[in-house]
Amino acid sequence: MQSMLPGAPWLLAHKSMLAVNQPEKISLYGNDYAMWKDAAGDIHALPNACPHMGAMLSEGWCEVESDGSSVVACPFHALKFDKSGCTVLPGSNKKTLPLLEPLELIIQGDFIWSYGQYEPKIAIPTVLNEIANSYDFIGHTANRSVETDLLTMLLNMHDYNHQNGTHRDLFRITEVQFHQFIDNGHQSHAFYDMPTAPYSLTEKLRKPDLFLLPTTIKAHLENHFPSLVIFHAEMPLGKAAQCHLFIPEAANRTRTYILLFGKASHPAFKFFGSTYLKFGKVVVDQDADILGKIYPDSPQKIKLNNEVGMDWVRRNFASFPNVGSPNLSK
Ligand code: FES
Ligand SMILES: [Fe+2]
Repeated sequence: MQSMLPGAPWLLAHKSMLAVNQPEKISLYGNDYAMWKDAAGDIHALPNACPHMGAMLSEGWCEVESDGSSVVACPFHALKFDKSGCTVLPGSNKKTLPLLEPLELIIQGDFIWSYGQYEPKIAIPTVLNEIANSYDFIGHTANRSVETDLLTMLLNMHDYNHQNGTHRDLFRITEVQFHQFIDNGHQSHAFYDMPTAPYSLTEKLRKPDLFLLPTTIKAHLENHFPSLVIFHAEMPLGKAAQCHLFIPEAANRTRTYILLFGKASHPAFKFFGSTYLKFGKVVVDQDADILGKIYPDSPQKIKLNNEVGMDWVRRNFASFPNVGSPNLSK
């Protein structure tokens, strides 16, 4: 269990990721839940195994009650459970006591957080609320479960040297110019530039999206351990905050997705929103691919330059939920 950092908050979803009255399966700490959004935008989550004979409630459907709220119906024998886990048995006209314990959710605007029934040890980062207030929400992408543990997933995200291997097809980065790492404990910032080898005009004409890639990628990563990494990008057309989220679904399965926010300095920026989402998806797919091709327990005998982000992840993992004195700034 310690490998999944109980006591940390996890952003299970953004409200836009749920269709109204459509149950979705959400996993956290080895437990599955049926989560649904009703017409008023309220979010509910119950353990996914029906207390009758164990069918997955997430495979069922929602029904709207007379007061506008909705209940989830089991796909096996159609028992209906309200948000508190109560049902009305056939032949009865009275609700049962709760038969399922709802997952505790903390809703902040469109953000659906949870501590997965554990006692909170660290606070929910406020930065997403600030971004939601000052940027436009562009969309979500790359929501996928990867067969890897949380630590390995986070090491990949904070590895500033893998662009040339994992992402070589996309970016053609020629070097990583590392500038600064600011260690504030569970929060940190990394600043580095990545000049890229140019694409030819023919390649760009074949794939017009490539026109949007800058010749030098200026990276500012804002990290909130353990669940959030924000990639801040400045482009001629506007600013973007590409938020990467992580959720330990089980000891060896970790879910990730991207929420993209933008602030346009030119009207054309909006038009390219879907292209930026597409880039984000390619990046996550490439990361997921390499994570399936490494031996996670093999000892590291070589250390490269600029592994400070990974040192930060390992340090925070080892001392969770505490941080000794932050000592990695450089
Ligand atoms: S298994 Fe759900 S109603 Fe029977
Ligand atoms: Fe990556």
